Parts: sequence; C-alpha cells; structure tokens
Amino acid sequence: MITCSAPGKIFLFGEHAVVYGKTAIACAIDIRAHVTVEEVHVPAVQMKGPGGNVDLNQRKHPYIYAAVEKFRNLADLPPENPTSASGSGICIDIHSEIPVGSGLGSSSAVTIATLKSLDVFYGTHLSPDEIARFGHQVEEEVQGRASPTDTFVSTFGGLVRIPDRVKLDFFDAPIVIGNTRKFSSTRKLVSNVASLKERHPQVINQIMDTIGTIAETGVKYVTANDFTTVGELMNINQGLLDSIGVGSFELSELVYASRKAGALGSKITGAGGGGCMIALCEHKNLSRVAHSIKRAGGDSFICRTSNSGVRVE
Ligand code: MEV
Repeated sequence: MITCSAPGKIFLFGEHAVVYGKTAIACAIDIRAHVTVEEVHVPAVQMKGPGGNVDLNQRKHPYIYAAVEKFRNLADLPPENPTSASGSGICIDIHSEIPVGSGLGSSSAVTIATLKSLDVFYGTHLSPDEIARFGHQVEEEVQGRASPTDTFVSTFGGLVRIPDRVKLDFFDAPIVIGNTRKFSSTRKLVSNVASLKERHPQVINQIMDTIGTIAETGVKYVTANDFTTVGELMNINQGLLDSIGVGSFELSELVYASRKAGALGSKITGAGGGGCMIALCEHKNLSRVAHSIKRAGGDSFICRTSNSGVRVE
C-alpha cells in the first residue's frame, strides 16, 4: 500500500496579470491531499467509497480517471472494463484537507498525489518534472484550459516565481485563509478581465504591468522575510485586483475584517469572484484574524506556507 500527499497553493502576488506574461509568486501551503493506492484481488481500478470499493467512475472522479489513463501507457494497469480478465487490480482512496473549487489548487494536489502514488506503486520512476507535466496534461484534459502553476507548485512545493517557474528561497509564514464558500469560474473571470482589457487597453495594460512590478518587488521582500513590506504590497495588489473586477462584496468583507483584526496584508488568492482570500499575520494575531473572518461570514483556517511538494507518506 502506498500513500502520497501533495500540497495546495496560494498566490502571494500576481494572479490574472500572469495570464499576460507578468511575474507572479505562488506558494505551497501545509494543507494537503492524500492519495492511497493499494492492491485488490479484482482486475479493476477501484475507488474506495463509504459502502465498499467501486469501479473508478469518470464523471465522479475526472482527475483520478484521467491520471489513471495517463498511466496506462506506462504501467501494467488492469483493463478499464474487466470482463474475462483475471488477476489483481488497485483501489484508490482520497483524503483531502483542501476545500474544493476555492482557488487553493485542490484538483492539482489530488492529481499530483495520484500520479506519484501510481508511480511509486508501479515503480515507474517518473522524475518530478514528468509528474508536474503529466499533472498539467491531466488538468487540461479535464478542464480544457489549465495553468501549469498549480501542478508545478503541488509537485515541487515552496515559493515559486511564475511564469518562469523558478523556485525562490523559502518564505516561512503563517497565513489565515478565508473562504467565501462561493464557487467562481476561473475561465469566466479570466475572460471578463480579457474583455475589460479589450475595452480599455491603455488603462488595463498599465494595471497588469503594475501588478507584475508588485510581484517583482515582492521577490526581494519575501526572500528577506520582511513581513511588513510583503503585507503592504499584498494590500496594493488587492486594490488592483478589485480594479479589474475580480473582487466581490464577500471577498472585500473578509479582506477588511482581517486587516481590522491586525493582518499585515490581505488579498484575494486565485481567480477571485468568490473562493478564498489570504491574510499574512504575525503569530500573535492569527486567532484574532481567523475569528474576525468568521464573524464577517467566511470559513477560516490557519495554515503555513510549506516547502514540501509531493511526497511519499
Ligand atoms: C487562477 O488560479 C489564477 C489566474 O491567474 C489564472 C491563471 O493563472 O491561469 C487567474
């Protein structure tokens, strides 16, 4: 039996502007998706369900299904629909701490942890680069368009500058995550920003440039562990995200509640519209900020940035 886990991620700076080639900084967090692969004496690929094992269902588990399909060419997997086949198969079990559909990279973490578990189980010895690349392909197959950032951060962990995907010196920081519990579509938000940019190219291009400059400036302060300046830059970034229409009433409530409770900086993470915000805090303020976000109507939890990518448990 093999269990692997992979982390979720946040954007410290630069979401949306990164779509236009500007710099962004993403970071792994210490909430993870755990995937276990074990041998079963049925010639099928099964999922562990509450009432026992069931054959892997493409509709219910599209990322796992696509990850298993990726593996068919690499390993001796049991057939998709076993009829007369005999022998053994595998059962896959998932436990994820990452809220689904909230911009924290839950699908990437599950995909990467699945690929790594299959890799170890079948002894295929994929390199981390191959795992990240296959993970991105799985996400593209399921979602249509997918950014390689989430799968990269989930594979390698730590602090990553994008779009060039360079790992930076680790930024060890406590973060409070506030979740609006409102689903938002990344595709729709990216397309809304694109049409705003088409209507007002001179205005929006400058905003994108400035967001990129914030991220570039942020690299220096993040690597120096200067929390105060990182927080200040996060707040400026948040104002610009609002200006391109990816904020929402709920997100603003959580952002301002966290600042009122002492957060050094707070902003949307990911596509916005709904989903999550992050607050960078000093240790002494963590609980206060988390409570304040709850009082403002969000779910909140305290986590840390993490230098650990996908790993065998
Ligand atoms: C979404 O998590 C981040 C965006 O910048 C889109 C992307 O980078 O693909 C909004």
